[in-house]
Amino acid sequence: MKNFTFHNPTKIIFGKDTVAQLAKLVPQDARVLILFGGASAEKNGTLAEVRTALGGRAVQEFGGIEPNPSYETLMGAVALARREKSDFLLAVGGGSVIDGTKFVAAAIPYDGEPWDIARSGGAKVRSALPFGAVLTLPATGSEMNNGAVVTYKATHDKLPFRSPLLFPRFSVLDPTKTFTLPVKQVANGVVDAFVHTVEQYLTYPVQALAQDRFAEGLLQTLVEIAPQTLAAPDDYDTRANLMWTATLALNGLIGAGVPQDWATHMIGHELTALYDIDHARTLALVLPSLLNVQRGPKRAKLLQYGERVWGIREGSEDERIDAAIASTRAFFEGLGIPTRLSAYGLGQEAVDAVLEQLGKHSLTSLGEHGDIDLATSRRILAGAL
Ligand code: NZQ
Ligand code: ZN
Repeated sequence: MKNFTFHNPTKIIFGKDTVAQLAKLVPQDARVLILFGGASAEKNGTLAEVRTALGGRAVQEFGGIEPNPSYETLMGAVALARREKSDFLLAVGGGSVIDGTKFVAAAIPYDGEPWDIARSGGAKVRSALPFGAVLTLPATGSEMNNGAVVTYKATHDKLPFRSPLLFPRFSVLDPTKTFTLPVKQVANGVVDAFVHTVEQYLTYPVQALAQDRFAEGLLQTLVEIAPQTLAAPDDYDTRANLMWTATLALNGLIGAGVPQDWATHMIGHELTALYDIDHARTLALVLPSLLNVQRGPKRAKLLQYGERVWGIREGSEDERIDAAIASTRAFFEGLGIPTRLSAYGLGQEAVDAVLEQLGKHSLTSLGEHGDIDLATSRRILAGAL
């Protein structure tokens, strides 16, 4: 195991009827800006509960943050917050709203062109407004980490950034707030959390025994609860397990001291930027093919994954690896999430276009060994046709 520092300052408030606790969590004298997405938070009553909990505080609202939040939209929130002298941000929504709020928190005090925050990967963040979140979609883990991804729509640049200053102060996780999610978004959430776990686990062995077992436990939990949480949206216990599992998948715990991959995410971001495919859906396109192409460097972990997550013990090593990849693909497809580019009407031209974007963004040495160059990314995408 490598040396590591583990620090996660985000306080989690989990369970039914917890939104009311905002009354204590948000500073009494705060000038609050609530940020939210489209219509869902208003329609399902979450925003009404948030407003009630904030009581007599000075509150402004900024709605309309879209999935894969755009710089163009977020700059509207920056202008509003600067004008109103907001000093506390509250995200109400899924990963897009929380990520967007992280960008706004860093952009408000930023002296210069705020897109630099994303372009520098977060290195240019020197200060940020404090913020909290009310999560309505279990998927990204943004509610308990310091990363975000924003898109400059005009140039098709979808860039990740992180900063120690961008952990939420708190996140309220009330599983009942997810009951109104469309099935498609629940399936997306399962796949996103699954792939976050895989990106930090399925690399090469470093004797990180607890991280491995934790990761395998999260993967098995997702496989176990997925059918029920899709079939019964208001089954509290399965939703609660999905919500906490998705948070644990990307709050730093399983990634501490271990090699990490993230190539599936980086290639996936380009597919979203070019073709507007939902984030998790891009991951389902890339991962099975990536595991196949990288079966050499990932051999030991692929065998461990096959055995411990899918119970695959029979056959030669290559047969077991084939079976582990096939199980992964079947799991995604079983959730209604395609694993082939052709499902989106995309072919060879998409492979070429993604390659060009990867080059433009200098994403030419991806993966835990930095060995996924453009030629390897080409083979991965060709394997997803
Ligand atoms: O806009 P509204 O009307 O609110 O509808 C949203 C949106 O259309 C809807 N929704 C959310 N909660 C709902 C609901 N509908 C009904 N009931 C509810 N309770 O769901 C749709 C998708 O929301 P979005 O926030 O875009 O989804 P998700 O949470 O999957 O976030 C995806 C974004 O997170 C980034 C992705 O790149 C993408 O931009 N990621 C962030 C990460 C991080 N910060 O650590 C890591 C991830 O890998 C990921 O890259
Ligand atoms: Zn993700």
